[in-house]
Amino acid sequence: MPLPAAIAADRDWWRHAVVYQIYPRSFADSNGDGVGDINGIRSRLPYLASLGVDAIWINPWYPSPMEDAGYDVSDYRAIEPVFGTMADAEALVAEAHDAGIRVILDIVPNHTSDQHRWFRAALAAGPGSPERDRYIFREGRGPHGDEPPNDWRSEFGGPAWTRVTEADGRPGQWYLRLFAPGQPDVNWNHPDVRAEFAETLRFWFDRGIDGFRIDVAHGLVKDADLRDIAGLPFPLPDDTPDGVEHPHWDQPGVHEIFREWRAIADSYAEPKAFCGEIWVGRAHRLTAYLRPDELHTAFNFNFLTCPWLAGPLREVITSTLDAHASVGAPPTWVLGNHDVCRPASRYARPQEQIDPGFPNLQHYLGLPSDLAVGRRRARAAALLSLALPGGAYIYEGEEFGLPEVEDIPMEARQDPTVAGTGGAEIGRDGCRVPVPWTTGGDSFGFSPDGAAAPWLPQPSDWGTYSAQAAEADPDSSLALYRRALALRSRIPALGDGTLAWVDAGPDAVAFTRDPGFGCWVNLGAEPLPLPAGARVLLASDDLADGAVPTDTAVWVELA
Ligand code: NOJ
Repeated sequence: MPLPAAIAADRDWWRHAVVYQIYPRSFADSNGDGVGDINGIRSRLPYLASLGVDAIWINPWYPSPMEDAGYDVSDYRAIEPVFGTMADAEALVAEAHDAGIRVILDIVPNHTSDQHRWFRAALAAGPGSPERDRYIFREGRGPHGDEPPNDWRSEFGGPAWTRVTEADGRPGQWYLRLFAPGQPDVNWNHPDVRAEFAETLRFWFDRGIDGFRIDVAHGLVKDADLRDIAGLPFPLPDDTPDGVEHPHWDQPGVHEIFREWRAIADSYAEPKAFCGEIWVGRAHRLTAYLRPDELHTAFNFNFLTCPWLAGPLREVITSTLDAHASVGAPPTWVLGNHDVCRPASRYARPQEQIDPGFPNLQHYLGLPSDLAVGRRRARAAALLSLALPGGAYIYEGEEFGLPEVEDIPMEARQDPTVAGTGGAEIGRDGCRVPVPWTTGGDSFGFSPDGAAAPWLPQPSDWGTYSAQAAEADPDSSLALYRRALALRSRIPALGDGTLAWVDAGPDAVAFTRDPGFGCWVNLGAEPLPLPAGARVLLASDDLADGAVPTDTAVWVELA
């Protein structure tokens, strides 16, 4: 099906798109089983169109045992029955396009599920078989091979290796899995792996999908000798000498894979685009993935992890813009996703004290929290991110100012991090709680009334954050996002391009964009004056005597 003319004309869509992330389990449940689904997404397309987003990114919707909420894929070219059918998926793509919204899927190339046909074949075929060579099987260390082959650690806790029982019933080889035991890493040196994923890209592109978010894009290639990490930190520090590489993150060999993928995307008449999930720290290592023959965009996690402090924000914005300009790629501006603490709750903490590492709730436990402050900052951060050059991401519920749910009982938590760490970490469920659509009802409009309980419990006050509550409040976060997105689509200065910094004092983040646009953000205690002649277009909170109050962002038209 050709794209409707209105969106087809925008061939550079990925350079400026505002992409709304849908975590399908938690967005909208149409059939009452307590888990969100594709028809639920379809029912909310009018809402997404009224919000004004350009695209949706849907987290994995493929068949999966759900050991890691769908990031353990057992069949890359089908739909998980809990989410619906291929016909539902095709209808969603067509309806989204008709509503002017592009569709981005999530591809998971670092690992499959242990239920994938390849992994089952590898287990059945035994050591030394060609089937095992599609994964990373090794003998263990130690006299009986009962120690893992190297010192790599799982992202979810414990060693990154699981030992299998061979056909004769004896403990045998170990396989690498950087995430959960049910997520064996594939061997990207194997031609079958390359061919299979290339075919999967084409399968979905042929069905009208506009792009892919690439899971763990920096992890696909491993050191040829599976060297020990031996204490090397990651991300590598800024002053790391050339030639020092981490053995399983950001290996230089990964770039060749994305060159091949780019050629596949470019072989289509319609513009297809990639966005890499690439946690590498150093800005130049991120933008190496964005050279003109590689990926189109990548998530800007340096911005996401930056505390709400003016100096660090100016620095991260500058380093982002410089690094992206060096390869001609547009930055993205990201405040949250399904893996990290929601921004309203992150910004609620004392910002000088927060750990700039991987920003999940675990890091903030024990720090005092003022949610009113956090939500106010999150509104300001939204205006900031939508004013910066490039594209932006909104994670479902961010537009309601949803907080993290911090008190999910341990027994209700589902993230494999909880089991992987023996309960020492609480995991990422707090940002995945099903979205509230209505002020009341059994599940605040997530499922039909009378349905099974939502797959994660919702707090009793969840309805106060709902879409329905926001619709009734002209000053809600939702109203702010709608106005911002409507303005963004008609202000020529916004989207792709450049900015010029304005020195408005140490506690301000202030810049202009041509023609005639300015964004002033006040992170200090004193009101921040606006420049003479500035006409206010939009403010994240009320202004005080024409000045920008604390934790407020303002968009202005400049004379
Ligand atoms: C990143 C995904 O965003 C996360 O949810 C998942 O657990 C890991 N990759 C492993 O696939």
